[in-house]
Amino acid sequence: MTKLRESAKASGKKVRLRSIESGMSDDVRAYRKHYSQFLRSGVFLIDKVSAYLLKTRGKGIRPLLTLVGARAYGHTGALPESTLSAALIVELLHTASLIHDDVVDRADERRGRPSLNLVFNNKVAVLFGDFMLSRSLEGMFNQRNFDVLDLFSDCAFRLARGELVEAIGSRKLDLDKSAYYTMVSDKTASLISAACQMGPLSLGKSVEESLPMKQYGELLGIAFQIRDDLLDFGAGGPRLGKPIGLDLGQAKLTLPLIHVLEQVSPIDKKRILSRLKKSKKAGKRGKKVDLSDIIALIDEKGGIAYSQQVAVDYAKKAAEALQPLPDNEYRRKLEQFAYFAAERDR
Ligand code: IPE
Ligand code: IPE
Ligand code: MG
Ligand code: MG
Repeated sequence: MTKLRESAKASGKKVRLRSIESGMSDDVRAYRKHYSQFLRSGVFLIDKVSAYLLKTRGKGIRPLLTLVGARAYGHTGALPESTLSAALIVELLHTASLIHDDVVDRADERRGRPSLNLVFNNKVAVLFGDFMLSRSLEGMFNQRNFDVLDLFSDCAFRLARGELVEAIGSRKLDLDKSAYYTMVSDKTASLISAACQMGPLSLGKSVEESLPMKQYGELLGIAFQIRDDLLDFGAGGPRLGKPIGLDLGQAKLTLPLIHVLEQVSPIDKKRILSRLKKSKKAGKRGKKVDLSDIIALIDEKGGIAYSQQVAVDYAKKAAEALQPLPDNEYRRKLEQFAYFAAERDR
């Protein structure tokens, strides 16, 4: 997989999350305090699940985007309650979607630990995901802002639509590039974009003023998901904290594969898809099929390098979308963030 690592450095700007976070520690600390307090329910068993989740905090990129986004619009001094709670709403919605996603994907690891569906069971995971979603909804209403409600109702709709289209696509095995981009924008970019837009909206800026952040988030979100698809092929580092090979094994059509399927003969395409179908079936019986030859073919035919380049191109476009914003250190952080999304190792 050396090609994967080389391609990740294609833009020559490999960015670390730590460098984006530096100088943001007061804001991040204030947000985290909110997060742990908000999850408490007063019901022992629910709090037990919450405690497990709190031990497995993810990267927190969405709340960080909200916080940096607010700063990029020139806010100085402590961030208002509305911004901290916007960051919280976004992370709750994200975590709820991951909990449900792991049930759907039958994933047994998340954030470096056994997933909730494994530690408890599918029933608890689905219900706890709903619980987090309801807490997030509560936070949205508390913003007392119809623009915010508009934003999140559209986002929740797109998130669900994206996950559904992906599930149906892997049943029918017929997702082309254009359908893939729509699906990825829906399932991932919608929420990342909302996180970005919430920076200015939570400061009382108008929807119009927040549009560069919306556009930026949509583009960054696509880069983020393409890179996620590459991580599934083993492109990441040792701290990925989630299983690899799940997408291919479950016959999910992601960009590297779609790109290669476009090039091979109809007979080869049929052969590859039928292998994936078999692997998916075997997976349901708890068995694993060796797909290393298909992975090698995807790499050989340039599917990996091509997808990495597309991710970096999206990152570049995302950074360009920030041009209407004032030129300050936070805008530069956001620019870096876009490259992080496209080249991250976890
Ligand atoms: C994972 O998101 C799901 C995708 C949209 C690819 P993250 O990579 O942000 O997950 P955590 O929150 O850091 O675990
Ligand atoms: C992204 O889907 C998760 C959501 C948008 C809910 P994936 O299934 O590709 O993400 P990971 O790889 O499990 O994190
Ligand atoms: Mg998944
Ligand atoms: Mg999924």
